[in-house]
Amino acid sequence: MRHFLDTADWSSAELLDLLKDAVALKKEFKNFGNTPLLKGKSLAMVFQKPSLRTRVSFEMAMQHVGGYAFYLSPQEIGLGKRESIADIARVLGGYVDGVMARTFDHQHVIDLAKWSPVPIINGLTDYNHPCQAMADFLTIYEEFGKLEGLHLAYVGDSNNVATSLLIGAAQFNMKMTVGSPTGYQVKQSVVDTARKINPKLEFNVTDDPAAAVKGVDVIYTDTWTSMGQEEEAEQRRKVFPPFQVNAKLLGQAAKHAIVMHCLPAHRGEEITDDVADGPQSRLFPQAENRLHAQKAILVKLLQ
Ligand code: CP
Ligand code: NVA
Repeated sequence: MRHFLDTADWSSAELLDLLKDAVALKKEFKNFGNTPLLKGKSLAMVFQKPSLRTRVSFEMAMQHVGGYAFYLSPQEIGLGKRESIADIARVLGGYVDGVMARTFDHQHVIDLAKWSPVPIINGLTDYNHPCQAMADFLTIYEEFGKLEGLHLAYVGDSNNVATSLLIGAAQFNMKMTVGSPTGYQVKQSVVDTARKINPKLEFNVTDDPAAAVKGVDVIYTDTWTSMGQEEEAEQRRKVFPPFQVNAKLLGQAAKHAIVMHCLPAHRGEEITDDVADGPQSRLFPQAENRLHAQKAILVKLLQ
């Protein structure tokens, strides 16, 4: 049985097929509504962290294809506290056809998958955010009509979102540069994974944000402080301001460059209002694409 924990578990061809499925499902949805491909199927959504996009897009995706999704809060489940992950996985598997889980510890989604009789989908962990990356690559594909050869710059904290973008960039043969302050750069193990997937990967790191975005097709940023790191927020606010995506930094990218952010944004910190709301911003099409990309993943796993 397949799970969706990390795009690295899927081949590039499979991921491209998922993107094509997402394009088709999006078109169908916009034209006349989706056919009920998952009629009567159910998805449990386990959240250990807050969410707007992930929760609503998964719930609506299931509804659009004739299925049903429901939310389980951290208090209800007590993942690994009230009950072991192995027990939760097996109990849920007796009731539902799939489980989407957002956890702190990445090992927790791996453990759910190990014990679950139904597919597990990773809705973000401290390590990665593969569903977000699929929506992001869908957005880039829609913009440029291709992925291969495009240059993506990620500016800011090398967090879960950056990890999934780098793995995906390797899989889709994109060039990637990460501009982060010293101490917040991509972990060597993630770079090693990306290079193993694609030995020809063009990947650079720099602590110079202007150099990172020079001539790139896509500038991507995310919050300086991720969920679970709140006690570091003050320290991070001292380190990250040179990495703010503002009009000046955007001016260094290619003229046709688009700006992306997984949201939620801390406007005035990692991104300014004029850029987030400007003509090069794709923040909201990107958020919408969560719905379409995840619908493709759900259909692939649960049909
Ligand atoms: N981008 C994203 O995953 O948003 P939520 O945390 O609101 O789900
Ligand atoms: N890096 C952010 C992404 C939120 C969708 C976090 O983990 O909080």
